[in-house]
Amino acid sequence: MEQPMLVMKNISKSFNGITVLNSVDFSVKKGEVHALMGGNGAGKSTLMKILTGVYTADEGDIFIEGKQVSIQNPDDARENYISMIFQEFSLIPTLTVAQNIFLTRESKTSAGLLNDKECIAKTRELLTELEVDIDPNEIVGNLGVGYWQMTEIAKALSQETKILIMDEPTASLTKKETEILFSFINQLKAKGYAIIYISHRMDEIFEICDRITILRDGKHVATENCKQIDLETVVQHIVGSGMDKAFEWKERAYSMDVTPVLEVKQLSSGTKVQDVNFQLFPGEILGVAGLMGSGRTEMVRAIFGVDPKDSGDILINGQKQNIKSATDAVEAGLALIPEDRRVQGLVLEHSVKENIILPILSKVTKGLLLNDKKANEIANGFVEKLNIKTDDIFKTTKLLSGGNQQKIVLAKWLANDPTVLMLDEPTAGVDIVAKTEIVDVIRELADSGKAILVISSELPELLALSDRVIVMHEGKIVKELKRREINSEEELQHAIQGY
Ligand SMILES: Nc1ncnc2c1ncn2[C@@H]1O[C@H](COP(=O)(O)OP(=O)(O)OP(=O)(O)O)[C@@H](O)[C@H]1O
Ligand SMILES: [Mg+2]
Repeated sequence: MEQPMLVMKNISKSFNGITVLNSVDFSVKKGEVHALMGGNGAGKSTLMKILTGVYTADEGDIFIEGKQVSIQNPDDARENYISMIFQEFSLIPTLTVAQNIFLTRESKTSAGLLNDKECIAKTRELLTELEVDIDPNEIVGNLGVGYWQMTEIAKALSQETKILIMDEPTASLTKKETEILFSFINQLKAKGYAIIYISHRMDEIFEICDRITILRDGKHVATENCKQIDLETVVQHIVGSGMDKAFEWKERAYSMDVTPVLEVKQLSSGTKVQDVNFQLFPGEILGVAGLMGSGRTEMVRAIFGVDPKDSGDILINGQKQNIKSATDAVEAGLALIPEDRRVQGLVLEHSVKENIILPILSKVTKGLLLNDKKANEIANGFVEKLNIKTDDIFKTTKLLSGGNQQKIVLAKWLANDPTVLMLDEPTAGVDIVAKTEIVDVIRELADSGKAILVISSELPELLALSDRVIVMHEGKIVKELKRREINSEEELQHAIQGY
């Protein structure tokens, strides 16, 4: 039998006495794309951080091509041909592709590192080898996001690599960009790389991966050939039982014959938002669809006052508002849960509780005294409601897994009880159970009379939630559809691409 490229054996890891990985076995073959799956907080990133030398295991052994290795730090990982592509882009938009790729190698090249000729030549060589059509001299900021991802990969592969780890690489990619990435992954596979692929998107796993390993609560649950396992079984392994809920649309009752809670009139902002008009009614969930770059995020940023408006009016309950900053927006009753929550939404050094109650401090404070009991109650309530995996509400937020951090941002804004809630990709990075829970929470809020706007690139989710869908293209609203008029996901996909 062929020797695996990587074997991790009996890997255990605890933090402060709490076991996060419990004797996990994991192995990847040469030329294989291996999915690593599991719910938020299952231990995926921790296992990969052990492989890349960010953490060291308490117990266990690592073998590469049959030889035992010791990985104590990131340099050891590099020496063992292990590279990781992180979900957050690490590129500098104002530099060229070549400069970005060679940026981190200062130690290896001498002072004239960005000394261009050599670095451009090397980049060209690398890109040709990878069969990617990018000009090394192109400024990264001018490239589409899909090509950023390719540049990230080229950067990871610019050092000799045998094992490549991707942590949710498609989270910010469109369908088309994802296709480009997938054909690229297939090329790497053919070249014999061992690829570890982390994602919460089931359809992708079945499309691109050969085998799948599932972790649950820090334990290895299953490793299967993708062709020999079905979606239901995968979900069952992740969840630990059958899923009792799925994304299912329910027609909801609300009136459009009343004053809209939010009305946007002729809004323009920069080049990305042009003459946008729409109304949002009490109890309504309005979905916003569109390709990456269609102006969806920019539209809500302009409404919320974080980007300047060139023209247009925002009315709340029929009253014209003068929103020039996020503070103005919050005062007017708006909330925006941003796309990039880890940067914009959380104080990572603070505890779970502090983050959740931050926007509502005035409501849990009497004079100068914090009503701690009430604050704890609220924080614990959200931890339970959104199933946030944390030891307790006092844990430092940065120690939570990626998906659980996202849930805290959501909790934080929900606690503030806004009149109009705008959510930008609310379930990116959260696991399948949490996704359905978030869908439920959003519905409950709408049922209680709130007006909700949801931007989402995940069509099943958008279809499950929306009462109405608007489609954006090049900064304009090009289509408006009643949910009941949309018969299938393909139909919506078509509306987005062919508008
Ligand atoms: N440095 C740390 N100190 C304490 N706890 C930690 C630390 N790093 C991770 N954890 C805990 O380990 C558990 C596993 O986290 P990990 O990031 O590996 O999850 P994950 O499977 O990657 O989840 P996600 O899908 O949400 O990214 C979580 O409960 C997390 O809070
Ligand atoms: Mg993770």
